[in-house]
Amino acid sequence: MKRVITYGTFDLLHYGHINLLRRAKALGDYLIVAISTDEFNWNEKHKKCYFSYEQRKALVEAVRYVDLVIPEESWDQKRTDVHDYQADVFVIGDDWKGKFDFLREEGVEVVYLPRTPEISSTRIKKDLYDANAEEREAAGKKE
Ligand code: CTP
Repeated sequence: MKRVITYGTFDLLHYGHINLLRRAKALGDYLIVAISTDEFNWNEKHKKCYFSYEQRKALVEAVRYVDLVIPEESWDQKRTDVHDYQADVFVIGDDWKGKFDFLREEGVEVVYLPRTPEISSTRIKKDLYDANAEEREAAGKKE
C-alpha cells in the first residue's frame, strides 16, 4: 500500500483543489490531506478563511480521492507526519516548488504537481468582491 500525503488550506473548495487531489491519489493507494487549522492560517500564513477548519475538513473528506484528513498546525510537523502516517510520497502544487525537498532526507518521494491555471481561493474571493462592488455601483446609479 503506497501512502501519499499533501498539505493545504482548501478554502472555498474549487476544481483546482479537486484536480490536485485526484492527481495526488493517482500517485498511490491511500491519500492523507493535512488541512491548515484556522489558527495556523491566521498566525503563520496571515490568511483568514471563509470556511472554518471543521467545514473545510468535512468538504475535503467528502472528496472520493481522500482517505484521511488531519490538521496542519505548524510548519515543522511535516518531518514527523511522514513517519507517523507512514507516507511514501509527499505531494503539493508547484507554487511550493523546491520548498519541501528536505523531506527527501526522511526517505519520502517529493512531487510538485503543476497548478490548475486561473483558479484559486483568493481569486474567487476577489472576483465575488468585484462583482458585488459592480452591483452596488449599478444599484446606486439607479436610485
Ligand atoms: N492548487 C492547484 N491549483 C490551483 C489552486 C491550488 O493545484 N489552481 C493546489 C495547491 O498548489 C496546493 C493545494 O491545491 O497543493 C491547496 O492549495 P490552497 O493554497 O489551499 O489553494 P489556493 O486556491 O491556491 O488558495 P489561496 O488562493 O488562498 O492561496
